[in-house]
Amino acid sequence: MTVPLSAALFDRRFVLVTGKGGVGKSTVSALLAAQSGARGRRTLVCELNAQERIPAIFGRAPVGSVVTPLRENVWGVNIQPGPALEEYAEMKLKVRAVARLVFDNPFVQRFMQLVPGMNDLLMLGKAFNHERERDAQGRPLWDTVIVDAPATGHGVTFFRLPKVIRDHVPVGNMHEEARDMWALLTDPERTATHLVSLPEELPVQETRELARTLFGPEMGLPPGALWLNQVPTPLFDAAGEAQVREGAPPDATPALQAAFDVSQIRLGREAQARAYQAALEGLGLPLVALPLLYSRELGPAQLDALLAAARAQGVP
Ligand SMILES: Nc1ncnc2c1ncn2[C@@H]1O[C@H](COP(=O)(O)OP(=O)(O)OP(=O)(O)O)[C@@H](O)[C@H]1O
Ligand SMILES: [Mg+2]
Repeated sequence: MTVPLSAALFDRRFVLVTGKGGVGKSTVSALLAAQSGARGRRTLVCELNAQERIPAIFGRAPVGSVVTPLRENVWGVNIQPGPALEEYAEMKLKVRAVARLVFDNPFVQRFMQLVPGMNDLLMLGKAFNHERERDAQGRPLWDTVIVDAPATGHGVTFFRLPKVIRDHVPVGNMHEEARDMWALLTDPERTATHLVSLPEELPVQETRELARTLFGPEMGLPPGALWLNQVPTPLFDAAGEAQVREGAPPDATPALQAAFDVSQIRLGREAQARAYQAALEGLGLPLVALPLLYSRELGPAQLDALLAAARAQGVP
């Protein structure tokens, strides 16, 4: 069962990308940003207090907490909890001096560090504010805000935070912020959460669980696509494959024997990837397979190669 990739999915304003650690979340976030920018949408891609990866994929230097252009129509930022908190305090308390008085207070600082997930909530809140930003004419500053969300485990807690706060803080600013944030996260008109996985046993298992949790009745987040990353694409044509399966000739040199062994392992990996892809298609999400690239660095050329592969599968 393949689910079509609708243009409407790629018109959402608030786009989250999550998955297990190291599966390619930052790579897919960069790809989504590049594609969105190429469609003429003003796009901001946010990393959250990360060892920055995304600017390098665009061939740029790290950007820190300053919104910085990466490519035509694409900007990047690495949201930091400190500046996000100061900005939030200023917005709510109006006066910088008063904000300082409150948030430079060691007691308040200790409190902020003690509340689990407080930093995450602040960073998500900052991304949420980018979605609400308006220019002087009152038009949205960004057509698309992409959030490279934390790895799962941590990730599910992260996504639940606004709901937990909405339900446990009865009134006030914080309740209202959390309520609006949860409304955005669960709005299928504005938001989509993309999953990233690898064609390997554990990531596939975890992706199934994650899809059930995030998109099931308890949380009800609107799903994006499932990105199966690092898929080994067929290396041989039919004749080559038959030859590899036959095995090395009896008089093969050790190097040729090794090449046959490696090629047979590769065929096994390709078959395994096809099986995992078929299993994941059962989740009923649109699926995009991204090829495993053999290059030391992931830069603009590799990004464009992944983009071409995604477009060939119908990513609008
Ligand atoms: N399709 C691909 N082919 C080859 N290498 C890839 C591919 N996608 C990602 N990589 C490499 O895999 C590594 C992990 O990718 P990436 O940083 O995007 O993952 P992540 O999920 O964001 O990781 P983290 O959980 O640490 O944030 C990087 O070194 C990246 O260059
Ligand atoms: Mg990352």
